Amino acid sequence: MLRVGIAGFGFMGRMHYRCFKALEGVEVAAVCDADPRAFGEAGAARGNIAGAEGEVDLRNVAIHADLGEMLAREALDAVSITVPTHLHAECSISALASGVHVLCEKPMALNLADGRRMIEAARRAGKLLQIGHCTRFWPEYAWAKEAIERGTYGRVIAATFQRLAATAARKAGSWFTDESRSGGMPLDLHIHDTDFVQYLFGMPQGVSSFGAEAPGGGLVHIATRYEYADTLVVAEGGWAMMPPFGFQMRFHIALERATLDFDYQRDPKLRLATVEGESLAPRCAGGDGYSHEIAHFARRVRGESVPEVITAEEALNSLRIVAAERESARRGRSVRLDEFSKERDDEV
Ligand SMILES: NC(=O)c1ccc[n+]([C@@H]2O[C@H](COP(=O)([O-])OP(=O)(O)OC[C@H]3O[C@@H](n4cnc5c(N)ncnc54)[C@H](O)[C@@H]3O)[C@@H](O)[C@H]2O)c1
Repeated sequence: MLRVGIAGFGFMGRMHYRCFKALEGVEVAAVCDADPRAFGEAGAARGNIAGAEGEVDLRNVAIHADLGEMLAREALDAVSITVPTHLHAECSISALASGVHVLCEKPMALNLADGRRMIEAARRAGKLLQIGHCTRFWPEYAWAKEAIERGTYGRVIAATFQRLAATAARKAGSWFTDESRSGGMPLDLHIHDTDFVQYLFGMPQGVSSFGAEAPGGGLVHIATRYEYADTLVVAEGGWAMMPPFGFQMRFHIALERATLDFDYQRDPKLRLATVEGESLAPRCAGGDGYSHEIAHFARRVRGESVPEVITAEEALNSLRIVAAERESARRGRSVRLDEFSKERDDEV
């Protein structure tokens, strides 16, 4: 039996709880949160994606007030780090140093130097560090990745990604809208698409970004062109939508012999239009990206052989690309990724 602990029992902590509970041979043995209200009904905060709300049965789960106490008192194999982003590095490093595997939510950290310290801590402990880039595991995105790799429809000519939310209004005054704790919209929301672009196409040579700022709100909307030799790749992210708009994630991928388009709010969500004139709804895996990501993590912890979907170095590279996007939007010109080389990590 794999014994798991969860640090931070808000929206994502509850999501990880639900996903681990659904797995055979996994026990959520302990949870911790600095705020005791997190364990009651009031803690069932809602995020952009359904699935974490509702009551949770904590009768056989040890409850702690902080991570240090949970690590000291429980014999755990792995811990999910689902605390606010500014605490990711410190919590992941202490969990790894105590000898457990870590699944840390995205973004990995607020800056590259912290991300590198996390990778070093995992190396020293000989434990796994998986970062929660769930979009790589989202069924429709995973289907697109596989279709592109199979090459059945030719190469990608152009791809656009979009992710829009009402976070600025819905979470006003919380840690989300405090850039020093969340990294702001580019790191909190848009990084999902930045990371998926990296997953599909590798590191871009450079980025050209345009941003919009809200008074006192930092960069609340961004549009980026990722520079690749022969594919046009664009992603747009923003969290200044009004609450009735809800949440939207979308992509369009133009291949030589087919078009793939995904709309989170539509049924069917994924469509494949072929050169032969067919419009198909590809059969994707069920569930959401969180459940697949967490099942993958559990299999890695058990030492099963699984395809490599996300490495901690790639998660660090996603931080690096977002840093370049911010810089490009600030300078009003294209920024090459080699300007964000390892030598500069401590400055970003
Ligand atoms: N993968 C995704 O799609 C996705 C979606 C939402 C959030 N996230 C990420 O998950 C993380 C958490 O986000 P959330 O929406 O769950 O936030 P949240 O505010 O709902 O939950 C965070 C919880 O951590 C607790 N906490 C704060 N400091 C703590 C400490 N020192 N020790 C223990 N607990 C502490 C808070 O009391 C709160 O209950 C963030 O890094 C966020 O970027 C990822």
